[in-house]
Amino acid sequence: MASCELMDTLLNQSTVHVWFCDLEIAEPQIASYAKLLSADELARAQRFHFNHDKRRFIVARAVLRALLSHYCQLSAKALDFNYAVHGKPSLQVQHNPNDLTFNIAHSHELSVYAFAQHHAIGIDVEYLLRKVDCLALAKRFFAAQEYQQLVALPADQQQRGFFNGWTRKEAFIKALGDGLFFSLDRFVVDLSSDQPAKIISIEGDKQKAQTWSLSAFTPQANYVGALASNMEIATIKYQRWNHDQFNR
Ligand SMILES: CC(C)(COP(=O)(O)OP(=O)(O)OC[C@H]1O[C@@H](n2cnc3c(N)ncnc32)[C@H](O)[C@@H]1OP(=O)(O)O)[C@@H](O)C(=O)NCCC(=O)NCCS
Repeated sequence: MASCELMDTLLNQSTVHVWFCDLEIAEPQIASYAKLLSADELARAQRFHFNHDKRRFIVARAVLRALLSHYCQLSAKALDFNYAVHGKPSLQVQHNPNDLTFNIAHSHELSVYAFAQHHAIGIDVEYLLRKVDCLALAKRFFAAQEYQQLVALPADQQQRGFFNGWTRKEAFIKALGDGLFFSLDRFVVDLSSDQPAKIISIEGDKQKAQTWSLSAFTPQANYVGALASNMEIATIKYQRWNHDQFNR
């Protein structure tokens, strides 16, 4: 799809574009992606202890740049980011005349990206086979109502319920841009897999929660993701990044 069409879809509708990207790719492709990164980003890549984290960071960041260059019609290499006080990246104003907003998350071998316009957006993804003590984590970080919902699930559904909650909560705090400075027990989400995702209340306020959209998605087997925005979303368009097309 041509870049103007991509931007038109965002401009004309209450649409969010979500992209999925496989981070485990061949070395020659990683080398060509690395050429898109800024000096700061390359320095950050070098600081990763494990080589697989370094490789995945390079791919995730380069694909972010490539996608942004499609939407903004600027060269991927030329884009500059601002970082808000709690680390949320955005495009520098001079590169962003159409007020594009975006967010990114990565887990294990996958990155996910969300793009919208004029509205806050947050996305999260988690690899479901990660070993976690989900009840202990939920007891510590989740709201009491969420913990009760999790405990009431059959044992074989608790890991999935926990990651449903985790991704939905992180998508919301990432849309706010506050990260974990917005304590996770200040708002309540629904954890179930068979009902539409939703924020139930924010600081006890159910009406405030209704001003937010929350959606769950399954990018591929063994992953779960969530998207949050302060806009009413009419359409979410899901797409998978094609490395071969980029590197051709
Ligand atoms: C922002 C935050 C929520 C992201 O955490 P994360 O789960 O480690 O990472 P994710 O893959 O979801 O997202 C990382 C991306 O979010 C973006 N980001 C960074 N800070 C952000 C913020 N304050 N708001 C929104 N997005 C942010 C960045 O693009 C980052 O990727 P990059 O630096 O490689 O480009 C972070 O505040 C954090 O500390 N999380 C800890 C997770 C945790 O313990 N959760 C407990 C749940 S029970």
